[in-house]
Amino acid sequence: MSVNAVLIRGGTVVNADREFRADVMCVDGKVHSVGENLAAPTGAQVVDAGGQYVMPGGIDPHTHMQLPFMGTVAADDFFSGTAAGFTGGTTSIIDFVIPDPKQGLLDAYRMWRGWSEKSAADHGFHVAVTWWSDSVHADMGTLVREEGINTFKHFMAYKNAIMCDDETLVNSFKRALELGAMPTVHAENGELVFLLQQEVLKMGITGPEGHPLSRPPMVEGEAVNRAIAIADVLGVPIYIVHVSCIEAAEAIARARARGQRVFGEVLAGHLVLDDSVYRNPDFATAAAYVMSPPFRPKGHQEMLWRGLQSGQLHTTATDHCVFCAPQKAAGKDDFTKIPNGCGGIEDRMHVIWDAGVNTGRLTPSEFVAITSTNAAKLFNLHPQKGAIIDGADADIVVWDPQGTKTISVKTQFSKGDFNVFEGRPIRGVATHTLSQGKLVWVNGDLRAVRGAGRYLKRPPFGPNFDASQKRTEALKPTAVVR
Ligand code: URP
Ligand code: ZN
Ligand code: ZN
Repeated sequence: MSVNAVLIRGGTVVNADREFRADVMCVDGKVHSVGENLAAPTGAQVVDAGGQYVMPGGIDPHTHMQLPFMGTVAADDFFSGTAAGFTGGTTSIIDFVIPDPKQGLLDAYRMWRGWSEKSAADHGFHVAVTWWSDSVHADMGTLVREEGINTFKHFMAYKNAIMCDDETLVNSFKRALELGAMPTVHAENGELVFLLQQEVLKMGITGPEGHPLSRPPMVEGEAVNRAIAIADVLGVPIYIVHVSCIEAAEAIARARARGQRVFGEVLAGHLVLDDSVYRNPDFATAAAYVMSPPFRPKGHQEMLWRGLQSGQLHTTATDHCVFCAPQKAAGKDDFTKIPNGCGGIEDRMHVIWDAGVNTGRLTPSEFVAITSTNAAKLFNLHPQKGAIIDGADADIVVWDPQGTKTISVKTQFSKGDFNVFEGRPIRGVATHTLSQGKLVWVNGDLRAVRGAGRYLKRPPFGPNFDASQKRTEALKPTAVVR
């Protein structure tokens, strides 16, 4: 047997469907075997996982490394951001290609692929549709057929920048359906946000406290309902990113109860942070939390947890999009100019374990489902990712449920100069992370390799993805007998 082997010995393997005591042998980047009392081949590295959980590496399906946005560029690049992810057990990301309006989708895709060459972790892309033309229609086909893209993102907010109007949503959703790709949406009504921003500014509120006032929950609720309705009429599944409030979670649950394929993502931040952060009198501190949708009044958090518990919401992400204080200062006199975005890639799994598993809200298997397996399934990466089974990629996190840490900007690996979870005590930490069968995080020692991450092609979805036939039948007028 090859010596390119790591044996994880004596732990409890947790997959989304069950947990069991087993050793895990990784050889040449793959899970070679899972079973009791596996013998270590000569030269293999051995990780003692006694008393620890052994789980599939996390998949963060929503990040923005080095995103050019609101006149600046996000501070973490594909190397620093993915390396930081390893320290918290995240081994894959799905980032976003976001073309400027009128920029070709393929052109933008190639740009992002160039930037992501330095990624330490395996990574894929969702591609945003920010405008519509025959060339966008054609590029979507090429991206699906040749480049392994199976999701297209739509921003319903950010008017005068990357916002989609309804015409673009309808055209793009329809095209995605033809291609076996899933539309995803950032759901906020951009017209209402724009109007409310002007009104809040006119009231003399120019600081970060104006941000949540201009983006109330109903603005998100309206857009989620609209996107779901468009998807339902066309018969295409839909994925709603960063669901932050009761209005949005209820809209998804209602649609699912009617039998519609609707999926929802929750950010670690929305699960544990609330809108009081925007009322901090220190501009830099309050501005550091400016992201969209904003953190909500505390009462919304319980609904998000319940959605994850009940399976009405499916994945967790970070929307990792780091802007440092000098960048946030662009909005010193006008909150609408504060670059939107917060970090979190290295904290997501720690925060969700501590607030989810330690509180009894989630079982360890449910934790694996919402941090890894569900994303792998929804984005067509399973079982290569999201499961510890023979033949899967050896992306694994060894987790000490008794280990503790306190989250702080002082000890974080991300290039950000702020941590939205600052001071949060955590019980349950990643002691070892394996990416492609290699140890990249060992008890505080980060061994990420620039450029080691592979691009993940994600094939389109299979034949029964398309619900439009059923819809067309249902819409046929019933014959009138006179
Ligand atoms: O505020 C955020 N979320 N910034 C990143 C872009 C987006 O909306 O996802
Ligand atoms: Zn967004
Ligand atoms: Zn985002």
